[in-house]
Amino acid sequence: MHVLVLASQKGGSGKTTLSGHLAVEAQKAGVGSVALIDTDPQGSLSHWWNARAARAPLFAKVGLFELGEALEHLQRSGIRLAVIDTPPAITESISHVIGHADLVILPTRPSPHDLRAVGATVDIADRHGKPVLFVINAATPRARITGEAAVALSQHGTVAPVTVHHRVDFAASMIDGRTVGEVAAKSASAREVRELWIYVQGRLARLKHDAAFAPEIVPQSFAVSGLSPADATDMPEGTDISDSSEMPDPPPPPMPEPYVGIERRSGHDRRHPPGEPPGFGNRRIQPFGRRSTDHSY
Ligand SMILES: Nc1ncnc2c1ncn2[C@@H]1O[C@H](COP(=O)(O)OP(=O)(O)OP(=O)(O)O)[C@@H](O)[C@H]1O
Ligand SMILES: [Mg+2]
Repeated sequence: MHVLVLASQKGGSGKTTLSGHLAVEAQKAGVGSVALIDTDPQGSLSHWWNARAARAPLFAKVGLFELGEALEHLQRSGIRLAVIDTPPAITESISHVIGHADLVILPTRPSPHDLRAVGATVDIADRHGKPVLFVINAATPRARITGEAAVALSQHGTVAPVTVHHRVDFAASMIDGRTVGEVAAKSASAREVRELWIYVQGRLARLKHDAAFAPEIVPQSFAVSGLSPADATDMPEGTDISDSSEMPDPPPPPMPEPYVGIERRSGHDRRHPPGEPPGFGNRRIQPFGRRSTDHSY
């Protein structure tokens, strides 16, 4: 059984949305039985699954410290893939969940706040020796900051070559327990999720040396780039082959355009002098600030 953990300290980065979407996509791709596990007391994934008419994927709400037992049970029951959604925190319990992962997916909005927050989650994965895959989620089409985010993230690990863009159908589909692909199979959002799953599937197959798990189909954008999903792990980090128009123009100027996507500004930033955009600026050097207090888990 392969275990995928969606984790990120930052609230609202897309953990629950991508957990549900990847699990449904995996099931649809025919990998075998898929189980979704909600370890978040907020229960967002549970609400989504309860609103869902389709029975698959299977679902379990599991207490953080019962996870090991639950995963053993799922494995004995013949489940091929477990997708685990986690709460937005950096705690011992998140560390415990990550300890069970074959691959940690760290969804990140392309905003300075989100980028600064990834360091603590990456640290936990590193401690457990678990591979991390960054997925840029809710990106504004053709926004320069998307490419800058990919470049910044690639200094710290592998960035999925598929960017998930900000589209209202993601939010809308989650309301009635469906996925964007189940609402409109040919939508751009559905294509991104499909291609993201194929990439993740290739990574898991490679990481676990499980050739039988590898994807058979090659999305057009992978084919155009001359890459197959099996090559996914060998791609230069930060490469986004889903939409080359979003790749960064190297190197970025000292002060990029201010971020215009969804972002709640913290009190700290509200206190910033007027006129100073919350972009990277010189702070780009250390978007992953790791404070000593981050090591309390
Ligand atoms: N690509 C996207 N396009 C548009 N809306 C999105 C996208 N991804 C997520 N959202 C929306 O953003 C909000 C937060 O997403 P989600 O609940 O998946 O994040 P989360 O990381 O699980 O949050 P939390 O940390 O609170 O658990 C939701 O309303 C969701 O519908
Ligand atoms: Mg969530």
